[in-house]
Amino acid sequence: MRVVAFVGSPRKGGNSDQLTDAILAGAAEAGHETEKLYLCDYALTPIDAVYGAEENWTDPRQGPADELIERMVAADVVVLASPVYWFSVSGLMKLFIDRWALYQRDGRRLMDLMPGKRVAAALALADPEPGYLDMVLGPLQQAAKWLRMTWAGEVVATSVADPGDLAAQPGVLAAARELGRAL
Ligand SMILES: Cc1cc2nc3c(=O)[nH]c(=O)nc-3n(C[C@H](O)[C@H](O)[C@H](O)COP(=O)(O)O)c2cc1C
Repeated sequence: MRVVAFVGSPRKGGNSDQLTDAILAGAAEAGHETEKLYLCDYALTPIDAVYGAEENWTDPRQGPADELIERMVAADVVVLASPVYWFSVSGLMKLFIDRWALYQRDGRRLMDLMPGKRVAAALALADPEPGYLDMVLGPLQQAAKWLRMTWAGEVVATSVADPGDLAAQPGVLAAARELGRAL
């Protein structure tokens, strides 16, 4: 199987990136092909005004997102990795997800192309507060449901701020690797 991971932190080598590497290492151990893409390498922009029927939505700035979305379509499993920013995924990740609505190829939209594929998430955050992880994971799980994808699980690193912090949590890195193996 082919596993593609999208890193939604602008910090290469940061905590979300390290979690992603652990997941992909596990996936490689299980014999899967892996690919990692940094959203910050692409000129993602907010959705321009779109009107009318959803299937006619277009935006001239869709191109960079479509390059990424093509990788999703080509994969069997998608990993979404993000730091928590203000009780949500990063803006970068949200820009990417918003663009899913506008993707079209040969009259087929993402909801026609993703059913049956699997999706997992990796989150890094500094200050765990009871209850709010559901607020972050909920929209990702709902988006997966909308695309009729199967939720493959998540790994969450809490109390991590600096990139070195994650090394002190070998259990979390092991869980990420295990998630990758089980993808
Ligand atoms: C703009 C911004 C907003 C943040 N908001 C939160 C937050 O709401 N909750 C939290 O626990 N940590 C928050 N953090 C801390 C990051 O989630 C944390 O440092 C994380 O490990 C960064 O991941 P990265 O190394 O992959 O970029 C925020 C950080 C930034 C820069």
